[in-house]
Amino acid sequence: MNQYFSTYRRLREGSHIRELASDVSLTHRDFIQPLFIDESVSMRTPIATLSEINSDTLESTIKQIESDLKHGVSKFLIFPVPKLKSESNFDFSFILNAIKKIKSTFGSSVWLAADVCLCCYTSHGHCGILNSEGTRVLNNETAHAIALYALQLAEAGADFIAPSDLMDGRVAAIRDILDTNGFDHVGILSYAAKFGSHYYGPFRDACKSAPGKGTGLMDRKTYQISPFNSVDALRSAVRDFNEGADILMIKPALLNLDILVQLRKLILAPLAVYHVSGEYEGIELLAQKNIMDRSRGHIEVWTSLKRAGANIIISYASRHAKEWIDKIEY
Ligand code: PBG
Ligand code: ZN
Repeated sequence: MNQYFSTYRRLREGSHIRELASDVSLTHRDFIQPLFIDESVSMRTPIATLSEINSDTLESTIKQIESDLKHGVSKFLIFPVPKLKSESNFDFSFILNAIKKIKSTFGSSVWLAADVCLCCYTSHGHCGILNSEGTRVLNNETAHAIALYALQLAEAGADFIAPSDLMDGRVAAIRDILDTNGFDHVGILSYAAKFGSHYYGPFRDACKSAPGKGTGLMDRKTYQISPFNSVDALRSAVRDFNEGADILMIKPALLNLDILVQLRKLILAPLAVYHVSGEYEGIELLAQKNIMDRSRGHIEVWTSLKRAGANIIISYASRHAKEWIDKIEY
């Protein structure tokens, strides 16, 4: 029979051949689980807008990590939620003690990346120190404070430093201070292509870090990247790589696959994507309304992220990755 069409359906005929023919695969080994350690809660407290995720005390964090290790999760991104907010002279002791405790409990069986930013510490919720008029986030002062904080996190035992503030020069400043103090083995996971986004809402509830209060600056547009500017995202990531970042992160993940695909070609380093709180919660709400199956919804997103070139996925559902990936139906 003369054929004027190609026949592809033989490779779709059944689940065995579909599994064999696939060229994207997922493993729980690539996942990082975020954790919120909140100084002002006296017991584990659910975050209302971030389904299944809690504000943990230090004690409940230890229990959470014990359970996560049993489920194949050993890499964490830690967010501190300090009790006291101020405008300067921040007290980091809460998170430093937490990291020491986690490391002394679990040793090298856990890998800790510590988010470093000031938005959870500042009374106004901005990621840095403001000028006296409250109209600008000061770049160099903030980068300097971030670097000093990063050194303390490394001294406490963090394996990686993850700066999310977006000041110019902070990666170089962190690399420099780590290297000159004997922490050349501590890496930097830079929030490199971090867009200003409306998908961070649940996270800001968790960290009580919505920007603006008492200032003339109600959003993060002067430091986070505009979704209308892809060149800014690409060159910011290349710049962070050149300043010494070991891993580059793109966020929000699913909204910026185009940037991921382009960075994959531009940068010879592992790329991480952060499926952020609003993206995550969208799936959770669809699942709660029985509009979509929860695990299949997350798996499909993770597959797209992998297909586009992500090496590392940061997801609030990381602790389900092993179980769900085992059960994938091809
Ligand atoms: C701020 C920071 C944000 C996230 C992580 N660190 C966003 C912001 O408030 O601008 C977002 C993470 C998420 O939404 O899951 N330094
Ligand atoms: Zn911040």
